[in-house]
Amino acid sequence: MKILGIETSCDETAAAVVEDGVKVLSNVVASSAAMHEKYGGIVPEVAAREQLRCIIPTINEALGSEYDAIAVTVGPGLIGSLLVGVETAKTLCMVTGKPLIPVNHVLAHMYANFVDNKKIIFPAISLVVSGGHTELYLMKSVKDITWLGGTLDDAAGEAFDKTARLLGFGSRGGLAIQKNAKKSDVIHLPRPMMRDDSLNFSFSGLKTAVMREWKKHNTSDVKASPTSEVKSAFAYEIQEAITDVLVEKTNRAARKYNVKSILLSGGVAANTRLREKLPQAIVPPVSLCTDNAVYIASYAYFRGKPEDWHTITSVPDLSVEI
Ligand code: KG4
Ligand code: ZN
Repeated sequence: MKILGIETSCDETAAAVVEDGVKVLSNVVASSAAMHEKYGGIVPEVAAREQLRCIIPTINEALGSEYDAIAVTVGPGLIGSLLVGVETAKTLCMVTGKPLIPVNHVLAHMYANFVDNKKIIFPAISLVVSGGHTELYLMKSVKDITWLGGTLDDAAGEAFDKTARLLGFGSRGGLAIQKNAKKSDVIHLPRPMMRDDSLNFSFSGLKTAVMREWKKHNTSDVKASPTSEVKSAFAYEIQEAITDVLVEKTNRAARKYNVKSILLSGGVAANTRLREKLPQAIVPPVSLCTDNAVYIASYAYFRGKPEDWHTITSVPDLSVEI
């Protein structure tokens, strides 16, 4: 079965056609990330307008082949962005008569691991780490998912992004932190909640800790010297702190549920240090970690259910705790 996936939950407009959840027939992603750079973060109104401008050309480019069903992200995400994908998908269903499958964006992220026929042995622990989410799931089969824990405040990607901005590395700065990190023992940051028994996370204190450390090590403006040794030391320690906690909690969950596989997904799963520290984990290619429509179509194939398009709506705060 060939499924057309449509993804517009944030600042990427994406469409893809995937056969039987594993074979990518097309994959198109347009991003408005660069437009938000000057504002220091995503501006929802700008993101929504860019979604509207890009959605038809993006779907058109992805539609090289026939398809049997349509899958669309209905949440969680920015309401203005979600509406563009959802209403476009409903219109397509209305005119083609094909079934429409609503998709939860965060659950879908983990299906990037199933693309290209990777053989996953269950049970598995799945860590979804993106700009908006840090969630741990137990997967007993390709359909059977249980939420185990998540962040109590900021997501791991958000912690990368907020601290990157403090250091003057731009707005979506996870990759910049990775590129600038140089091993050093100068800066020391906390590992929040690493030793507690739960499978929850907390990353909001990291930004404050970075500010506090910065004052100790530098009296000038944080943004003054973007290439300094101190900045590289900060980038290193920020990356170590975030990945240490992610790795510890993921391994703890893996032991607790005696699993056979560990899966990573989401934008932060692109991080090379995180991959290094979890060498046993199954990871998608970097291009399928950040937002795209391939995993939307894959999720729909493995776990989605068609619904009457009249009743499908955008749900910005769609729950990820299942
Ligand atoms: O999954 P994603 O594209 O969008 C959301 O659903 O949120 O994730 C984006 C997040 C951003 O916070 C970005 O800084 C982070 O993924 N990210 C990285 C890397 N590449 C992207 N974080 C750390 N290291 C990277 N290489
Ligand atoms: Zn995402």
